[in-house]
Parts: sequence; structure tokens; C-alpha cells
Amino acid sequence: MTPPDPDTPFNQPQQPALVPLPYTPVEPVECLARARRVYEQMDQRRSVRHFSDQPVPREVIEYLIRTAATAPSGAHRQPWTFVAVSDPNLKAEIRRAAEAEERKNYERRLTPEWLAALEPLGVNWHKPYLEIAPWLVAVFQQNVELLESGERRKNYFVTRSVGIAVGLFLAALHLAGLAALTYTPSPMRFLSDILKRPPNEKPFLIIPVGYPAEDCRVPDLQRKTLEEVAVFLEG
Ligand SMILES: Cc1cc2nc3c(=O)[nH]c(=O)nc-3n(C[C@H](O)[C@H](O)[C@H](O)COP(=O)(O)O)c2cc1C
Repeated sequence: MTPPDPDTPFNQPQQPALVPLPYTPVEPVECLARARRVYEQMDQRRSVRHFSDQPVPREVIEYLIRTAATAPSGAHRQPWTFVAVSDPNLKAEIRRAAEAEERKNYERRLTPEWLAALEPLGVNWHKPYLEIAPWLVAVFQQNVELLESGERRKNYFVTRSVGIAVGLFLAALHLAGLAALTYTPSPMRFLSDILKRPPNEKPFLIIPVGYPAEDCRVPDLQRKTLEEVAVFLEG
């Protein structure tokens, strides 16, 4: 019997259907102008811990989540869930649970090095913004997906994927004129209980979203320079 010809289509791996890339060409000069403009806008982003209670319409949050969900993800598994909370009772419950954990952190659990690192930020266990910000967006990562068949399907590069989605979310809300904080209470298990999330979802962080308070002040921080964060190896 002759062995099958390795070049016949029969032996090629199945090719997925490909569609044209939606892409509008941009001239190099325009590209540079846009890159600079995006940088200048994003350089104004700051973590905000003093929010106004001015409402933000749900539709705005929906677009921000849609943007976050355009993120690339390992094997395109999109291993994230965004739970947007504006219910005052739930926000109060989250604040109570977060402050209980934070109090233990600040009073007993944080190492002296960690406390020293937090000192320039002027943060403590009080988290009033968890009730004042009109929205708390709790992000969950799905290490496995529960399929309708009841099977558990593994996801890939989950933390990196969710981190990128959160980055897009933060950029989108900043460009839309809103402010936010990336808040990571530890431990965060209480979020799963309060928000009644399924067992395959693990809390990633909480993002209070809203307008900054009129008298909002932020720590006087410097960012590393390009030279400190980048290496170019040019040909
Ligand atoms: C992964 C991550 C976790 C963070 N956790 C907290 C937090 O629990 N509480 C807080 O007040 N800020 C938190 N921050 C905000 C940082 O303190 C803040 O990004 C940093 O000081 C730089 O300030 P900027 O965001 O205004 O540039 C966190 C930021 C990141 C990226």
C-alpha cells in the first residue's frame, strides 16, 4: 500500500474560516499624532479614591464592559465576568466586608515593608468610596468554564487575559471622562458570596467607577521615564 501523500489537503489540519480584517490604513504622520495624543490623554489617568455620588447611566458602563471584552485572551476563551453593582445595599455590604478584611490587614497582616510601600498613598482600612462611587464593577476570572453539558473546560493564560481586559476597561473609562480605582481587598472571597457568583469564578479585583469629587486630590507620584521602562534593540 502506498503511504498517503503528506501534501494532499486530506492530510492538512482543518483550516478555520478566515474573514477580512476590518482595517483603515493610517498615514505614518497621522499615526504618530494619534500615538502622542493617546499618550497625553492616558498620562492624565490617576487612581481616584474620592468620588462624587453623581450617577453614571448604566449604558455608559455597558459600553465600558463591551470595550473590556474586546481584549485578546488565551485561546480566545474570554475568561472574565464583569459584575456591575449600583444597588446601595449591595455596595454597603461590600464595603462592610472589605473594611473588615482591610482592618485586619492594616492592624495585623501587612508586613512593615508593605505598610511602608503604602505610606505615600495615604490609604488606610476605611473605604467610603465603595459606597459613594455610583458603580462598583467587580471583575471575576474563570480558570475553568462550566459548559452546559456539565463538563469543565480549562481556560488558558487566565490572569494575563483578565489583566489586559481590565486595562482596556480602565483606559476606556478614562477616555470617556470617568475616574476609577483598581481595588484589591485581600482576601476577596467575600465578593463571591455577596454577589452569588458560581464556583468557577474567582474574584480578580473591584473597580469603583464614577466622577471624581470636586475637591479630589491624588498622591503626588512620578512615573518612570521611557528610558527606565523601555529597551530598544534597533537594526
Ligand atoms: C493590581 C493593582 C492593585 C491595586 N490595589 C489597590 C488597593 O487595594 N487599594 C488602593 O487604594 N489602590 C490600589 N491600587 C492603585 C495603585 O496604588 C495605583 O495604581 C498606584 O499608586 C499608581 O497611581 P495611579 O494609578 O494614580 O497612577 C492598585 C493598583 C493595581 C494595578
